[in-house]
Amino acid sequence: MLNLSCRNAHIIAIGNEKGGTGKSTIAMHLLVSLEQRGLRVGAIDLDARQQSLARYLHNRAAYAEHHGNCFQIPNHQVVAPSASADVGERERDEAERLDAALEHLDASSDFIVIDCPGGSTHLALRAHALADTLLTPLNDSFVDLDLLGRVNPDTYAVEQLSCYADAVWEGRKLRNLSGLPALDWVVCRNRTSTIFSKNRERVDQALTSLQKRLAFRYLPGLSERVIYRELFPKGLTLMDLTKVRDGPKLTLSHVAARHEFRTLVNDLRLPGWND
Ligand SMILES: Nc1ncnc2c1ncn2[C@@H]1O[C@H](COP(=O)(O)OP(=O)(O)OP(=O)(O)O)[C@@H](O)[C@H]1O
Ligand SMILES: [Mg+2]
Repeated sequence: MLNLSCRNAHIIAIGNEKGGTGKSTIAMHLLVSLEQRGLRVGAIDLDARQQSLARYLHNRAAYAEHHGNCFQIPNHQVVAPSASADVGERERDEAERLDAALEHLDASSDFIVIDCPGGSTHLALRAHALADTLLTPLNDSFVDLDLLGRVNPDTYAVEQLSCYADAVWEGRKLRNLSGLPALDWVVCRNRTSTIFSKNRERVDQALTSLQKRLAFRYLPGLSERVIYRELFPKGLTLMDLTKVRDGPKLTLSHVAARHEFRTLVNDLRLPGWND
């Protein structure tokens, strides 16, 4: 059962068992978007090994200090897996760690963004059950889609649900049993090519057919843009480019990328976002 004692903040988990789909990049952009809207944000990085989100925030703090920018750096915590060899004890320990991190951030946050690691971990599964909104980015590829559903090699119709779909289902069941409101699951594609391809169309069709079956909202998501890879060392996001003097020069491609990201956030229908 899930029994968090305080629940002020809306919890957004960015999750996908598949690695490298843009979870940490999107988590950082989401945090900055919310913060720039005047909303209070907290962050939890569940990838204690890579710590991509924590490192991104660290780079942002260093940039702000060096350049005299008054960025707000969200309160954030890295929650590490338990080292216990006993499975039951490990699960209890991890549940306590994640719940404690959430409770610590809850009172000072309107939103808590949890960046989940790739792979299936107990911490990530609990984050999926605790999330009010789950955003799952996936690359524009049947290799990524295979974690949601398996497709027929000739017709590309989805024939069988797979492991990540099952994991989200388990999270939903746990929420339901605990009396929490239903999860809003949003799936978006990331790094889509701006050039038309048969593959892109087929992935689109497969996701469209899966959205009813798995009860997620399918959003177009983000195109492939080099700028996402360049911003990390400075801790900047697309949302900062007009606000800093010495960041990358704003191009039309950056403006288009920023528009795509804003559209994604609008379509998440987060409480307080459109007020
Ligand atoms: N829209 C995009 N266009 C171009 N590159 C992108 C885009 N989104 C993410 N990337 C790049 O893709 C790589 C993977 O992104 P990221 O680390 O955010 O994924 P992840 O899902 O958090 O990975 P992991 O599962 O390892 O935690 C990074 O190099 C990132 O800069
Ligand atoms: Mg990551």
